[in-house]
Amino acid sequence: MELYQAPLEGISGYIYRKAIHKYFGGIDKYFAPFISPYEKRIITDRERNQLCPEHNEGYLLVPQILTMDANGFLELTGWLNEHYGYEEFNLNFGCPSGTVVSKGRGAGALGNLMKLDEFLDRIFSVSPYRISIKTRLGLHNPEEFDEILDIYNKYPISELIIHPRVRAELYKGVPHYDIYKAANEKSNSLTVYNGNITSLDSLHNIEGVLDSTNAVMIGRGMLSNPSLFREIKGGASANADELCSFIDEIRDDYMRDFSGEIPVLHKMKEIWSYMGPYLVDKYNIDERLSKKIIKAKHLSEYNICKNELFRAVK
Ligand SMILES: Cc1cc2nc3c(=O)[nH]c(=O)nc-3n(C[C@H](O)[C@H](O)[C@H](O)COP(=O)(O)O)c2cc1C
Repeated sequence: MELYQAPLEGISGYIYRKAIHKYFGGIDKYFAPFISPYEKRIITDRERNQLCPEHNEGYLLVPQILTMDANGFLELTGWLNEHYGYEEFNLNFGCPSGTVVSKGRGAGALGNLMKLDEFLDRIFSVSPYRISIKTRLGLHNPEEFDEILDIYNKYPISELIIHPRVRAELYKGVPHYDIYKAANEKSNSLTVYNGNITSLDSLHNIEGVLDSTNAVMIGRGMLSNPSLFREIKGGASANADELCSFIDEIRDDYMRDFSGEIPVLHKMKEIWSYMGPYLVDKYNIDERLSKKIIKAKHLSEYNICKNELFRAVK
């Protein structure tokens, strides 16, 4: 079974991907956080910076598109193919954010199945590229997925990535494993499971659910434990030196990408909000060491607190 990195808007950009790939690896395919077509310009400078091949060397990356505008999708994917050579794209039908859903996009697309069908019909009849879908089970009730899957089954979706929760559940609670299992059996596409895999044990625990699943996609489990993919593939758990080099390289790359230290500090704290509690648990250290990093007001203070934590784990 292959292992995919989940798209994590604001975190798993090219800087994070580069560091994960360099230090830990184990990932067969990376999915970039979503971008959307614009009326005024096809792609922003920030998006070019994230998706250009020079910033994504050595691994397989799939851009993710969030839209219900078929022309916009075709134009944007055409541009990305022509300029950067991408031949596979992922459609986001999972984003639960209020502003996205209210416009009928992301998970909101699952609320109007006629429109969803029309959109897929248009893009699959015109697009020459491989198109995968990342979906939730519905808006309110997991049983909604039966009808949604009937629509997906009409199209040559390269991979159907299922996050077995409805929009209302956001990222909380136990995923609907039973619905995933049934959908997996009924799907005409290759399936990918996504949700709550945080360790080798948590993967083994749902082995029965994953029968004939093509790949597993992991998001937050990787943010907590960056060597999780390597471990699943039989490699070693990260040691403190590796983790320290990994996290410092991300900080240094962000320093080059952003003007000023405050946005860098925010980015680093977001990563530490996942990695800190994991390290506290793994090494049985005082949780105040991790909390101090999150409270740091300047990068110099961040560095002192981060070094203090790594001294405690070594
Ligand atoms: C901070 C954050 C950002 C996310 N950004 C995206 C995104 O850009 N596109 C997407 O399809 N899913 C996004 N997701 C959802 C994840 O890809 C994934 O489906 C979710 O975290 C469940 O998987 P996990 O339990 O392995 O984390 C995001 C989730 C989080 C927590």
